[in-house]
Amino acid sequence: MKKKFEKEIKTITIDKLGSEGEGYSIQDDLAVFYTLPGETVSVEVGYQKRTFLKEILIPSKNRIEPYCPFFGHCGGCSLQHVSRETYHQFKKENLQKLLQNADITTHLHDLISVEKGQRRRVSFSYKNLNGVIRFGFLKRQSKFLTDIDSCPLLTARLNSLIQPTKELLEKITPEKSTGFVMVTETQYGIDFSFSPHHKPKFTPEQIQLFAEFSRENGVSRITRAGKELLIENDVPSVEFDGQKVDFPAGAFLQPSIQGETLLKESMLRFIEKYAKKPKLIFDLFCGLGTFTLPLSKIAKTIGYDITGESIQNLAKVLPLPSKVEARNLFTNPLDEHELKSADVVVLDPPRAGARDQMEHLKRAKTPLIVYISCHAGTFLRDAKDLIEAGYELKELQPVDQFPDTAHIELVSAFVFIKGN
Ligand SMILES: C[S@@+](CC[C@H](N)C(=O)[O-])C[C@H]1O[C@@H](n2cnc3c(N)ncnc32)[C@H](O)[C@@H]1O
Repeated sequence: MKKKFEKEIKTITIDKLGSEGEGYSIQDDLAVFYTLPGETVSVEVGYQKRTFLKEILIPSKNRIEPYCPFFGHCGGCSLQHVSRETYHQFKKENLQKLLQNADITTHLHDLISVEKGQRRRVSFSYKNLNGVIRFGFLKRQSKFLTDIDSCPLLTARLNSLIQPTKELLEKITPEKSTGFVMVTETQYGIDFSFSPHHKPKFTPEQIQLFAEFSRENGVSRITRAGKELLIENDVPSVEFDGQKVDFPAGAFLQPSIQGETLLKESMLRFIEKYAKKPKLIFDLFCGLGTFTLPLSKIAKTIGYDITGESIQNLAKVLPLPSKVEARNLFTNPLDEHELKSADVVVLDPPRAGARDQMEHLKRAKTPLIVYISCHAGTFLRDAKDLIEAGYELKELQPVDQFPDTAHIELVSAFVFIKGN
């Protein structure tokens, strides 16, 4: 018979923070979330060294009181317990280590952060447990849900929708069912996407409940998983640089206006500094035009993205001679001849980075490339490619889009220095 694994309670000392913000004990080779270097803690050690913090026995002087009552139970945040000075230092040192390992030198700016209460886009998980709805975020490394009634990172408007959404789910979901709800607060309306894991079609009675929910809570549109339209009272739209763009259900949107502004301002600063009167700019992976619209005020800008609907909506408001084109930049990247005429290329790819596009960018020798990234690993891979091809990474601006997590976003300026 298989022997049952026995959990063990241990007292350990934390030596350093790991890359995900977890405390790490060198002597015991254990990683424990929500701890800090210098602390002595009591932990439960489970199968495959999974740890669960039981008690802080000797706290660090860098420990602060978390602002959220769900911190430590909810898997969303990992660093609310860290003094702001240590937090900023942790993120900067993390990045310095990654750059060092990749053998890249640059001017690394201090972190600029989004504040609490700014997040306008969120995906909640839910479970109907014998008629009672659990609604919130998954616990860390677990399939269990932390039921929340508010989240300090979200906008007040998104928080105001939590309780009514729970009540709706109580009425329309079968017992034991699970799924996701994604809510986006645009400047003009709420987009609500409901993704149950169970498949049956909604009944007319359920659609009626969706309609009532949308009216009572000022929700503009409800879809099933961003695809099947269930309710549309009006079309939500976003505003970039004073231009209103219709928001397709499930489209990409930067998670906060503040984060979007920090990324945009850093990008514009680099263009102003390193590009002398550009005439043509390419905006690769342009989405709904977050950067295309402000760029079109500097020079003719051509935006490319795979999603046809976003591109069409952007095309309606983008001033001539700027334009957009639907294109899969992974399978059909812009080649060096197409890129040749651009003075600046801005690219903001998904987490996978832009490896195939990099090959052509390297050969095109575009004078300035501003690379915006949501994944440090793929960014460094692509950055090394550009540097080998004769580019210099002049500046790197880290942006803290998801406060109190280990996540980091980057805006970078690559200037072409020498050809081979
Ligand atoms: C990180 S988002 C950036 C969007 C936009 N720059 C913004 O800030 O709102 C990445 C974008 O890449 C697009 N995308 C994903 N895969 C793509 C592909 N293979 N070819 C072209 N665009 C793609 C997505 O549609 C999305 O709009």
